[in-house]
Amino acid sequence: MTDAELADLRQSYSQRTLLEADVQPQAVAQFRQWLDEAVAAQLPEPAALTLATVDAATGQPSQRVVLLKGLPDDAGFLFFTNYDSRKGHELAGQPLAALNFFWPGLERQVRVEGVVEKAPENVSTEYFQSRPRGSQVGAWASPQSEVIGSREQLEAREHEVEARFQGQNPLPRPPHWGGYVLRPTRLEFWQGRPSRLHDRLVYERTEGGSDWKISRLAP
Ligand SMILES: Cc1cc2nc3c(=O)[nH]c(=O)nc-3n(C[C@H](O)[C@H](O)[C@H](O)COP(=O)(O)O)c2cc1C
Repeated sequence: MTDAELADLRQSYSQRTLLEADVQPQAVAQFRQWLDEAVAAQLPEPAALTLATVDAATGQPSQRVVLLKGLPDDAGFLFFTNYDSRKGHELAGQPLAALNFFWPGLERQVRVEGVVEKAPENVSTEYFQSRPRGSQVGAWASPQSEVIGSREQLEAREHEVEARFQGQNPLPRPPHWGGYVLRPTRLEFWQGRPSRLHDRLVYERTEGGSDWKISRLAP
C-alpha cells in the first residue's frame, strides 16, 4: 500500500447515537451495557482491551492487549497477568493505568482511567484453576517479558513443569501470577457519528462520592 492509499483509508460512522438521555447514571453499568452489546453483535474478542502503564522512572508509557475477566461489584475492571512481567513491574512502581476498548463493528470506543490494585488472592487462585490445564502449565513455564534463548528453551520449561506437576489437577497458582482490579476515576464513551462530529460522554467521579458527573466533550 502506498502512503497516498493509506491516507485515503477512512470510514464514515453513522450506525448509532450516544445521547445524555439514553445513558445510565453509573459508569460501570453503562460499560456493562456496551460490553453486552458488543458480545450480542458477535464482535471478535469483545473483552480484549489495550492496557497502558507507565515506567515511573523514565515516564515511558507502554501498552498491550489483555482480556477483561470481570467487573467486580460493577466498580472495577479485572484482568489477569504475570506480576513479574513488564506491566507488573510498571504497575508496582506507578499503580495508575488506562484501558481502551475498541469495538469497530459498533463504531465505539471506551477509554478508562484509574488506580490499579492486586485482586484478592482467592479471586486469582479460583480463576487460575478454572483455566485449561495447558494455560496453567504455561503460566508456570513462561517468565513473561524476560528475554529467552529460543522457542526450544520455552518448550523445555513446559515439559519440566508438566513433569513436576504430573498427576496434579488443578495446578497450584504460581505466586507471580494473578489479577489486578482497576478502580475507574474516569470513563469516556465514544460513538462514531457522521462528518467526524462524534458523540463523547465522559463520566468523572464526584469528589469523595460514589456518583458520577457526566459531561459531553467536543469530538
Ligand atoms: C487478544 C489478546 C489477549 C491477551 N490477553 C492477555 C491476558 O489476559 N493477560 C496477559 O498477561 N497477556 C495477554 N496477552 C498478551 C499481552 O498482550 C502481552 O504480550 C503480555 O502480557 C506481555 O506484556 P508486557 O511484557 O508488557 O508485560 C494477550 C494478547 C492478545 C493479542
